[in-house]
Amino acid sequence: MQEQTTYNYRVVRQFSIMTVVWGVVGMLVGVIIAAQLMWPDLTHGVSWLAYGRLRPLHTNAVIFAFGGSALFATSYYVVQRTCHVRLFSDKLAAFTFWGWQAVIVLAAITLPLGITTSKEYAELEWPIDVLITLVWVAYAVVFFGTLFKRRVQHIYVANWFYGAFILTVAILHLVNSAAIPVSFWKSYSVYAGAQDAMVQWWYGHNAVGFFLTAGFLGIMYYFVPKQAERPIYSYRLSVVHFWALIFTYMWAGPHHLHYTALPDWAQSIGMLFSLILLAPSWGGMINGIMTLSGAWYKLRTDPILKFLIVSLSFYGMSTFEGPMMSIKTVNSLSHYTDWTIGHVHSGALGWVAFISIGALYYLIPRLFGKTEMYSVRLITAHFWIATLGVVLYIAAMWIAGVMQGLMWRAVNPEGTLTYTFVESVKATFPFYAIRLLGGLLFFAGMLIMVYNVWKTIVGAKAVDAPVVAPAAAHA
Ligand code: HEM
Ligand code: HEM
Repeated sequence: MQEQTTYNYRVVRQFSIMTVVWGVVGMLVGVIIAAQLMWPDLTHGVSWLAYGRLRPLHTNAVIFAFGGSALFATSYYVVQRTCHVRLFSDKLAAFTFWGWQAVIVLAAITLPLGITTSKEYAELEWPIDVLITLVWVAYAVVFFGTLFKRRVQHIYVANWFYGAFILTVAILHLVNSAAIPVSFWKSYSVYAGAQDAMVQWWYGHNAVGFFLTAGFLGIMYYFVPKQAERPIYSYRLSVVHFWALIFTYMWAGPHHLHYTALPDWAQSIGMLFSLILLAPSWGGMINGIMTLSGAWYKLRTDPILKFLIVSLSFYGMSTFEGPMMSIKTVNSLSHYTDWTIGHVHSGALGWVAFISIGALYYLIPRLFGKTEMYSVRLITAHFWIATLGVVLYIAAMWIAGVMQGLMWRAVNPEGTLTYTFVESVKATFPFYAIRLLGGLLFFAGMLIMVYNVWKTIVGAKAVDAPVVAPAAAHA
């Protein structure tokens, strides 16, 4: 019976393809809003193309549509391969695919229409939140159900990270989205004032920690050893990494609320835990990069490994920068400036997008019965264009951010401000141009990927690999 003998690759294929599609869409919107910041009148008069509407569309599309689809695809693949069983339920898995796509389409319609809760990264109104909850419960059942019926005693560490991501996102979503509906498309948060802010950033930071980090560490723990053909550097370190990371992340949220109405002690706790977070983050990065020890030469020729390893370098960079920015005195300079935007995209493009792209280049040929992508040279081209794009993007934002912070706080000897706000905006203009160029390059890399994926899968037969008996092979 097909049930027993093959893995369910269908849902993995669906999510993989949609990861590429949503990556292109989300980044295109990113490029548009980057252009709007240079030319504010670009979409003048069209309310649903206004910056304030497109910005949340960008963040939702890249985080939840692109990143989310990558996480669904890889977690379904990894949990089957490492447990040596087919997914717990094909029907529920199909429901998560169509349900998640419906959420994305609803987001793409409601956000430009201005229908929003106005809570960052949780903008979708309550009917969509209900659908998200249903999809997420189904996801948890499929994932943990598969773990439950595994044919090996051991639970591979990648699954620990995926599991923590699924459980935590469920809790975050339920708590932060608690709201009282007043009509079909309007609700009000049950929290108010400083509590609302605290809950929102407990959610927001853990969305970074569990959606944009723990889930992608699951990808790292499976795909880096696979592509390097080496066991993970230290299994013991991976277990310490896991517990230290998930314990610490939970407390760091208040660093988003420095110098606000939040009690001072809560801000200090946020800063303290953010500083501690450097250690587990770097433990994980070292574990991933050192997996290559003895195989460094592979980096010269293998562009997939380049994507995976460079993503870890960006992970290391952004998790060094984050703790620094959480120090109150540093944050008093960086907050409100483009430095934050630079930090976000060194994590989002350098870490999240790079590791997803690397994993997809590994996965796609295998899902379509091929040994490798149509063109390895195009993967190399994608790698270099994307790397140049990220570097331009984040370097421009760092310089712009520090410059803005310094201009805003500069005072003349008699105590008046040295610069008007508009002078800082004018000074930022060239850096917005460099950022736009960086974004365009990154987007161009995605188009190369689309072509390469298309050429790989067109005419190919969708292949569901046979379930491997536990003793016969490593996942
Ligand atoms: C071509 C690639 C991209 C471009 C050109 C781009 C551009 C932008 C721009 C212009 C903003 C608004 C900045 C501002 O308000 O000053 C932004 C915000 C943001 N982007 Fe991107 N982006 C890209 C890719 C991504 C990806 C792949 C992710 C996540 C995986 C991401 C996550 C975010 C987040 C979270 C914010 C909000 C940051 C904040 O509120 O501090 N972006 N992006
Ligand atoms: C040790 C790890 C990290 C720490 C301690 C940290 C800390 C921080 C701090 C202090 C801010 C600025 C808050 C503000 O001034 O408003 C920030 C913003 C942000 N960080 Fe990180 N960061 C870390 C890693 C990451 C990673 C890996 C990513 C992405 C994958 C990321 C995504 C973001 C986003 C999206 C924001 C902007 C939130 C917003 O205001 O909309 N961070 N982070």
